[in-house]
Amino acid sequence: MIKGNTLKALNDQVNAEYYSAYLYLAMSAYADRAGFKGVANWLFVQAQEEMAHATHIYQHILERGGTPAFSDIKAPGASYGSVKEVFEKVLTHERFVTGLIDKIASVALGENDHATYNFIMWYVNEQVEEEANADEILSKLNFIGDNNGLLYNLDSTLAARVFTDPFAAAAQNQQP
Ligand code: FEO
Repeated sequence: MIKGNTLKALNDQVNAEYYSAYLYLAMSAYADRAGFKGVANWLFVQAQEEMAHATHIYQHILERGGTPAFSDIKAPGASYGSVKEVFEKVLTHERFVTGLIDKIASVALGENDHATYNFIMWYVNEQVEEEANADEILSKLNFIGDNNGLLYNLDSTLAARVFTDPFAAAAQNQQP
């Protein structure tokens, strides 16, 4: 059975993951309107991943006998000045999320909830990737500077990203 502080931290994280999805959708909309369809695609896929994270944590709460709690999802900022500003904010946000995930791990250990600790380790690893992906794109944008040709090349590359449900294989293994 899940304990109070761990339950609260996980419920807060479901909200934070949905907020992340909102944030990336808002960024995707900005990129789409600005004509960067590839950037918009990358961010749209990112939003889909965040929704998968939220649902996965919600399912863990239920599986451990906890009661999901729902609170308001904060509205994201919707105006951005450039693609570079967008990715600066993606990186800042992912670093913030890493802090939340690390805190869940500490709270779960403090309450001797090894199942949640083990569960949240997937997210500890995921955050390494999340930060690295944003950092890599931001480095490219720093290199690109004001070169529109290179920016459109990067946009084309980001158009190739496709959403794959990170938990699809696990769900299939649970089928009878
Ligand atoms: Fe759900 Fe971007 O971390």
